[in-house]
Amino acid sequence: MNQKQLAGEKAADYIEDGMTVGLGTGSTVFYTIQKVGEAVENGLRIKGVSTSASTTKLAESLGIPLVSIDEVDQIDLTIDGADEVDPKLNGIKGGGGALLFEKVVANASSKVIWVVDPAKKVESLGKFPLPVEVIPFGAQRLFRYFEKQGLSPVIRNKENAPYVTDSGHYIIDLHLEKIREPEQLAAWLDSLTGVVEHGLFLNGADLIVVGEADGPEIIEK
Ligand code: A5P
Repeated sequence: MNQKQLAGEKAADYIEDGMTVGLGTGSTVFYTIQKVGEAVENGLRIKGVSTSASTTKLAESLGIPLVSIDEVDQIDLTIDGADEVDPKLNGIKGGGGALLFEKVVANASSKVIWVVDPAKKVESLGKFPLPVEVIPFGAQRLFRYFEKQGLSPVIRNKENAPYVTDSGHYIIDLHLEKIREPEQLAAWLDSLTGVVEHGLFLNGADLIVVGEADGPEIIEK
């Protein structure tokens, strides 16, 4: 079993009958969703809230009942992947482009679990480029502004055109190498007009399942 599978499947143990469960996006939580699909087939009753078009497709193919985020007051538990995690349970997310819906779902959740392979563990965030989701109108101006600030921005592309998120936005990846003051950076990005969301999920998880080779490691607050 690979390390992503180990982490992804272990996290499914935290799901209880009757829960509303946020279903994250990516290649690690893929294994959680598969496991949930099997459990649903065997009688588990849950409602899933999807964080992306790709997760919706996967969940539907496995027969997992889905409800929209607007239909629920509170999500009991969300399980999602992450691109980097630090010892304070801060993370960078959005490598797969689903950061906006992922943050909306996480903020509506009583508990958040991240599933990662050991390569995602870092002492401080920033080696992984920080995704910033922006509206297309004025995106080039924001890009130039980030460039002037020395943040080494790159507009994410797909097939020689800007990558477009599920909600029709672009992503500018900031190649920062090391984020010294994540709270300050998050507050600054939040203040910029045209920025819809960013991939800093500070204090973002209650628990992290790391798929270590000798078994899952659980990091808790
Ligand atoms: C999706 O936009 C991301 O936030 C993913 O959750 C994150 O990139 C982790 O993905 P993997 O599990 O595929 O590495």
